[in-house]
Amino acid sequence: MAPSVLVTLLSSLVLSTLTQATPSSTTDSHPLDSRAGFLHPGLLHTEADFTRIKSKVNAKTNPWYAGWNKLVAHANSGYVPSPKPTVYRGTGSPENYASLYRDAASAYANAIYWKVTGDTAYATAAATTLDAWSSTLTLIDGSSDKFLASGIYGYQLANAAEILRGYSSWTGLAAMQSMLNKVFYPMNHDFIINHNGAKIDHYWANWDLANLCTMYAVGVLSDNATMANEAVNYFKSGAGNGAINKTIWVTYTESGSSKILGQNQEAGRDQGHAMLDFALLGVLAQQAYNQGNDLFGYLSNRILAGAEYAAKYNLGFDVPYTTYVNSDVTQATISNASRGDVRPIWELIYGHYGSLKGLNASWSKQYRDLVVSNGGGAEGGGGDYGTTSGGYDQLGFGTLLYRLEA
Ligand SMILES: *[C@@H]1O[C@H](CO)[C@@H](O)[C@H](O)[C@H]1NC(C)=O
Ligand SMILES: *[C@@H]1O[C@H](CO)[C@@H](O)[C@H](O)[C@H]1NC(C)=O
Ligand SMILES: *[C@@H]1O[C@H](CO)[C@@H](O)[C@H](O)[C@H]1NC(C)=O
Ligand SMILES: *[C@@H]1O[C@H](CO)[C@@H](O)[C@H](O)[C@H]1NC(C)=O
Repeated sequence: MAPSVLVTLLSSLVLSTLTQATPSSTTDSHPLDSRAGFLHPGLLHTEADFTRIKSKVNAKTNPWYAGWNKLVAHANSGYVPSPKPTVYRGTGSPENYASLYRDAASAYANAIYWKVTGDTAYATAAATTLDAWSSTLTLIDGSSDKFLASGIYGYQLANAAEILRGYSSWTGLAAMQSMLNKVFYPMNHDFIINHNGAKIDHYWANWDLANLCTMYAVGVLSDNATMANEAVNYFKSGAGNGAINKTIWVTYTESGSSKILGQNQEAGRDQGHAMLDFALLGVLAQQAYNQGNDLFGYLSNRILAGAEYAAKYNLGFDVPYTTYVNSDVTQATISNASRGDVRPIWELIYGHYGSLKGLNASWSKQYRDLVVSNGGGAEGGGGDYGTTSGGYDQLGFGTLLYRLEA
């Protein structure tokens, strides 16, 4: 038996014990979908998660309540979407992709607001936004950056739709599934195979990872196991930098502890992109975990090793570094560009590894605390971290959505 198979078996054993005891268990609270075996809602959040979130919000308990107020600031039942037939990113006129990321963030916030409060005005607003896009968008174009758009915004729309599918008056699910299958998935598939015609090691890990997040999300939203498996198989053994042992490609034992630290493929580039890798790894692994597939645990918790390394360095500590070489660059030192980058991604990572699994994720916890404190008591969401694309790379609101322990 290959070591990786053994790791998978071991982690699924761990998973099956844990899911019986934890509040985010998905195994007994809602039915299996009979077509593909997927649980719904089952991307970033399950029904059990929403039960926990609702009880924290109703009790006005912090830090969840502070997180709720972050979301409330973005929920808007009067939101007017700006759908486009063609979205351009990188080149094209007008370069209009901000409309897509703003609208996806709005639909997600409104869908969560409805799910937590039951106020159908917000479900209607989310539906209006999702339906506007599913009935309008036919093409994503631009420079190579169009493949960032196909990766980053598809999973965001799919997550809003996955929550809203529980709203019985929403009739737009099939249209959203269809649009995501026609416009986003073919680009996700094309990119991870052909990489826009470039050498296999040319594109930084986040490009593959974003397209895997959307591929997996569209698979679950559409009850298409073939598609979800394609993403998982690539994460485990793909040829490009989004395969986990290429994204986090060297490991070290931390001096003075037995902790494993993992150097990520973008560490020598800049820390903003290094952090984006963990935003996307978190999304992919959380979506799969909620379907009973534990990518967090894969390769001996490799994502945790990478998160701990990135958090430690960005907190201002030294980490070991191995020269990174690909077809385009040789990077002999870790990059301090944008060191200390703040993104709302650490609640998800610490919530899973530290709180749920009880593993030592102390650097991630410190980073989470820094981001939470920077946000005045909670992680914010789309729009709270700048108006340009980086502020919308992740959906955020992690304190509200992923925190398991005060
Ligand atoms: C599921 O996705 C695959 C691509 O991964 C596609 O070939 C197939 O047609 C899809 N199945 C359905 C029922 O849409
Ligand atoms: C990464 O994983 C793949 C698939 O398991 C394997 O074939 C490959 O040798 C691994 N590469 C490294 C550098 O460990
Ligand atoms: C950042 O890295 C460069 C190049 O290694 C170095 O010259 C510079 O001193 C570093 N700056 C800080 C603030 O660490
Ligand atoms: C967790 O790891 C850090 C080093 O990264 C170490 O200092 C700390 O003592 C560990 N915590 C526990 C509870 O083992």
